[in-house]
Amino acid sequence: MAPKEVIKVLVTGAAGQIGYSLLYMVANGDIFGHDQPLDLVMLDIEPMMGVLEGVAMELNDCAFTTLRSVVATADEKTGFSGIDAALLVGAMPRKAGMERKDLLAANVRIFKSQGKALDQFAKKTVKVIVVGNPANTNAGIAAKYAPSIPTRNFSAMTRLDQNRAQHQIAAKCGVTIQDVSGVIVWGNHSSTQFPDVSHAKVNKGGKSLAVYAACNDDAWLKGDFIKTVQSRGAAVIAARKLSSAMSAAKACADHMRDWFQGTKHGHHVSMAVPSDGSYGVPAGLIYSFPVTIENREWKIVQGLEINDFGREKMKVTADELAQERADALAVCQE
Ligand SMILES: NC(=O)c1ccc[n+]([C@@H]2O[C@H](COP(=O)([O-])OP(=O)(O)OC[C@H]3O[C@@H](n4cnc5c(N)ncnc54)[C@H](O)[C@@H]3O)[C@@H](O)[C@H]2O)c1
Repeated sequence: MAPKEVIKVLVTGAAGQIGYSLLYMVANGDIFGHDQPLDLVMLDIEPMMGVLEGVAMELNDCAFTTLRSVVATADEKTGFSGIDAALLVGAMPRKAGMERKDLLAANVRIFKSQGKALDQFAKKTVKVIVVGNPANTNAGIAAKYAPSIPTRNFSAMTRLDQNRAQHQIAAKCGVTIQDVSGVIVWGNHSSTQFPDVSHAKVNKGGKSLAVYAACNDDAWLKGDFIKTVQSRGAAVIAARKLSSAMSAAKACADHMRDWFQGTKHGHHVSMAVPSDGSYGVPAGLIYSFPVTIENREWKIVQGLEINDFGREKMKVTADELAQERADALAVCQE
């Protein structure tokens, strides 16, 4: 078989903590395939160029067979030119005393600028994942400023929330992670997200059971389970004094691997993508839905029955996203 064409992959915020774990997974072939050669571009701000020099040395010293070249840059034109995939991790961290709206304003400006850079320099087929928070809204802003790239090529990461939820269910039911399937995360990557197990299944004792039957604890499923997943990021910060990084990098890798290589037959994954109005979610919001993926195209899973409990939770997170988008658009006008 002829060797595959080289692809070009950009990771922003490459000098940060998620970057350090993520670059390993990009370069070793876990995401794009172990037979897929790639050119890697790492973008960060100017003061981090010394750090990136060291990261580049380490990547080269890993002697990965899939990694053809590594470039470190603070220049958007160099970073975004000709890329096939953009893993947008870099963002301003929340500092002590900073209001949510200040963080939103700082990060919206970054994603407006990167949207324009995508529009000008990236391939039109580029696939974009936004990890930097507020991830959903940042993805919407980047898409808005990249009108020459299809909006459906922009997504935000809620896979970490899905992975967290899957682990909670496996631990509660005393099964392995592979025995849990069909967990959905709806909405925003924030504390209003709705981790939903009403369509999920657990393999237990050789039988496939609905999660509600397998757990046999409705109060936990409707209460502490949801709260634990929604606030897991804060729990990690409290324990580690640093935010989730290894798990965020793994989730980013899962998201992009599935986008490039497809979902397993009969399985869906959660991804924040532009709403087409499915499930009553206002069109255009970057909202997490269950999707299946084939030939690098995602499709929102249709026809799931949503009960009153779920409908209410899905609306709360949609309302939050609509407000975030309005705030972000106001910043863009300034
Ligand atoms: N969606 C999710 O599930 C999820 C999970 C965890 C973290 N996050 C978010 O991911 C982001 C990164 O987290 P981290 O722990 O790696 O943070 P970090 O502070 O360790 O690293 C962020 C990096 O981004 C860089 N950066 C800042 N502005 C930039 C710009 N304009 N261009 C390029 N790089 C820039 C910084 O210099 C830094 O190296 C944060 O916004 C965090 O909130 C999202």
